[in-house]
Amino acid sequence: MKKRSKSLYSCQACGYQTPKWMGRCPECEGWDTLVEEVAVEGDRFQPAAPRGGARVPELESILAMETLEEPRIPSGIAEFDRVLGGGIVVGSLVLIGGDPGIGKSTLMLQALDGLSKNGRRVLYISGEESKAQVHLRSQRLGVTSETLFVASEIQMDAILAMLEAHKPAAVVIDSVQTMYNADLSSAPGSVSQVRETTMKLMVMAKKSGIPIFLVGHVTKDGAIAGPRVMEHMVDTVLYFEGDTNHIFRVLRAVKNRFGSTNEIGVFEMRGGGLAEVHNPSALFLSERPENAPGSVVTASMEGTRPILVEIQGLVSRSSLGTPRRTVLGLDGNRVALLVAVMEKKIGMNLSGLDIFMNVAGGVRITEPAVDLAILVAAASSFLDRPLPEGTVVLGEVGLTGEVRGISQLEGRAAEIRKMGFTHIIVPESGAKRLKKIEGLKVSGVNHVSQAMEILF
Ligand code: TYD
Ligand code: MG
Repeated sequence: MKKRSKSLYSCQACGYQTPKWMGRCPECEGWDTLVEEVAVEGDRFQPAAPRGGARVPELESILAMETLEEPRIPSGIAEFDRVLGGGIVVGSLVLIGGDPGIGKSTLMLQALDGLSKNGRRVLYISGEESKAQVHLRSQRLGVTSETLFVASEIQMDAILAMLEAHKPAAVVIDSVQTMYNADLSSAPGSVSQVRETTMKLMVMAKKSGIPIFLVGHVTKDGAIAGPRVMEHMVDTVLYFEGDTNHIFRVLRAVKNRFGSTNEIGVFEMRGGGLAEVHNPSALFLSERPENAPGSVVTASMEGTRPILVEIQGLVSRSSLGTPRRTVLGLDGNRVALLVAVMEKKIGMNLSGLDIFMNVAGGVRITEPAVDLAILVAAASSFLDRPLPEGTVVLGEVGLTGEVRGISQLEGRAAEIRKMGFTHIIVPESGAKRLKKIEGLKVSGVNHVSQAMEILF
């Protein structure tokens, strides 16, 4: 069939396509996101095969199938392997998203170094940096592997040929936004190029069994690069997050066909690359002030791991007509709700006062189990009285001021004791069930007013 090209408008946010330009994408409702691209027709949209001669695929009962244990290769970086569900699955396509400059290339180079142990040949393909730049980085990271190979390439045809010829044990493609498919005329980074790249790599991973890591500059809300279209196509989506102003980074799985999405890996960005943080609580509490009003320690679950964090509250007289409510790392609506509970149920009048809340270290917490800690932090600053030493506060707070039970109290309590704390304030229901831990005093509370009595 003769190839015919025509214009197509693709939404840069969701991938919706239409032959006519529109101001607003009907799919994702984004304004001004449609961009003209030239599509090649003919070889992509083949006419359906005639019904009569079609092959009918065999059916197979689910019970008759053989169980296949996916073979996994460990990278040796425990935090990385845990997030993947226990190592890299052969033939999987993994997307590593994150803001530019967060450390994706660094992480992948270190992971490849780990994977190349036992003589495994691994390949790092960079479309962003020259070989010399990658080499420089590898020296900084202390890479000593002889079987880690580097290529600087953006042509997808060449990359696929390279994979077929060399059959590496694992490959990293950095990044999807720089890759170019010659059969599409749009620029690298456009939705159609990104989609095509992802699709070709998916086919390659399944056909050859080579695990492929695809790096993408993608923010969680898809704001910068848009192509969230990739997420549906790949096996696993990992996000590398963190605040570039802080040293720690969190690797989180948001989709995983081969494992749980609950696990996180914590890293520290150092001069010599990323270092694993085996004890995140110690890191997040390392700069905590002693005996400071407004500072409260609580335990938040990150996947299956309890992590201790410091919540800070500052309540001060406002110089403005409308007092400020500035919240970092916590849900602003949740804080507003807890402030209302404080006013109504324990008679602390915060109206007319500025309220600032922050989670130290730039962490983000969405779990309601930290409600009581937020409330106590605000109260501590309001009263200008620090909490008794060695105290940790846990519990969800309801609208009537009741303190509600939380999940996994056992694990949190163990971590709290491990970090040297001696007293926990927990929901009454949980306190009854909690097994005794040596050196840890447990106070159960039903209502926020009880917590206030114990603490202040
Ligand atoms: P990079 O891996 O290039 O980020 P990405 O690929 O996500 O865009 O890392 C970017 C930052 O990391 C860079 O600004 C410097 C910092 N960095 C270190 O602090 N130590 C190191 O050893 C390396 C390699 C980078
Ligand atoms: Mg990079």
